[in-house]
Amino acid sequence: MVPKKIEDAFSKQVKFELESAYIYLSMAAYFDAEGFEGMGRWMRAQVQEEVTHAMRFYKHIIERGGRVQFHPIAVPPQDWQSPLAAFEAAYKHEQFITGRIDGLMKLSQVEGDHASTTLLQWFVDEQVEEEANSSKIVQELKLVGNDGRGILMIDRELGARTFVLAPDLASLYALAPAAG
Ligand SMILES: [Fe+2]
Ligand SMILES: [Fe+2]
Repeated sequence: MVPKKIEDAFSKQVKFELESAYIYLSMAAYFDAEGFEGMGRWMRAQVQEEVTHAMRFYKHIIERGGRVQFHPIAVPPQDWQSPLAAFEAAYKHEQFITGRIDGLMKLSQVEGDHASTTLLQWFVDEQVEEEANSSKIVQELKLVGNDGRGILMIDRELGARTFVLAPDLASLYALAPAAG
């Protein structure tokens, strides 16, 4: 049975992960409207990833006999000054989420709830990657500055991203795992 405090905190994290998806979908809409096709595609892949983050917490609560509670999702910002400003906001948002994961980790340790500690360890590692990904793009955009060709190259590069569902989540989505 999942401890009540963990159930509550994880339910809130379901909201934060879906809120992340909503923010990135808004960024995708901004990029798509501005003609940055690759960045739009990158953000739409990011949306899928954030939804799977929410689903990892959801799955954990359900598997341990808990009940997910739902919270309102905030309206995201809808305009940015530039691709750089949007990715800076994305990086800042990931830092905020890392802070939340750290808080959950502390709670799981205080509660002595090893099952949630294990789940959260995955998220600790994931956040290192999330911060690194957005921060790298911020650095690249800063490097090219106002050079249109440079921005176009970054846009192309980011457009190569595809979303791949982690095999351990396939059953959660009622999908057959990929062969191979
Ligand atoms: Fe996330
Ligand atoms: Fe994220």
